[in-house]
Amino acid sequence: MDGNGRWAKERHLPRSFGHQRGRRALRRLIESARRAHIPVLTLFAFSSENWIRPQAEIDALMRLFAHALERDIEAIHANGIRVQFIGERDRLPPKITALMRDAEAKTAQNQALRLLIAVSYGGQWDILQAAIGLARTAQNGLVDLNDASQVRVCFEQGLATSDCPPVDLFIRTGGEQRMSNFLLWQSAYAELYFTPCLWPAFSEQHFVTALTWFAERNRRFGGVET
Ligand code: FPP
Repeated sequence: MDGNGRWAKERHLPRSFGHQRGRRALRRLIESARRAHIPVLTLFAFSSENWIRPQAEIDALMRLFAHALERDIEAIHANGIRVQFIGERDRLPPKITALMRDAEAKTAQNQALRLLIAVSYGGQWDILQAAIGLARTAQNGLVDLNDASQVRVCFEQGLATSDCPPVDLFIRTGGEQRMSNFLLWQSAYAELYFTPCLWPAFSEQHFVTALTWFAERNRRFGGVET
């Protein structure tokens, strides 16, 4: 969800205002995804690298996350959406992790859309966690390192998205053409969609345009066209 800061700057407003409008765009997208029957939607809210931002901006973002979790969770639940969080929880304030746990517990049985929110998340961190899990399982003699398919299953079970399908469509707003450490392993065969639209301006129409573009892709997964 890139471009909140620039969206605000263009309007001579503080960056935190851009993040607030970003929250509005987020609510809009969740509703659009539910309407489009998307099974899993993962949003990158805060990366492992975002911790190097000025403390005042980090604090404002954490306040916004807490506020959104308190205020938006009822509507999310009422719409049958299941929320889960991925990322390094140890680095987050206890108030946020408590709200995350409550939101996950409250919505655990919902089935209309699975919403994953990545907070303090990094794809490299995720891969390292999975590698540590694999090493521990191998140490305990529970996986045969000579069996490539067993190794793969064990490794993928250690990823934060272990029970989710791989990424089909990867959307980045804000004009940059990079993945910035998001779902690296899971996006091996994702279709990459880059749009100059700044996140607060990302509308249902932008989302439908991305979905239409995706529907026209010829996905071969390393094979040949049949
Ligand atoms: C990136 O834009 C955006 C973020 C680091 C924060 C995203 C947060 C929200 C959309 C708020 C709502 C989120 C939740 C989970 C309630 P940027 O600051 O890098 O913008 P810039 O590239 O224009 O500077």
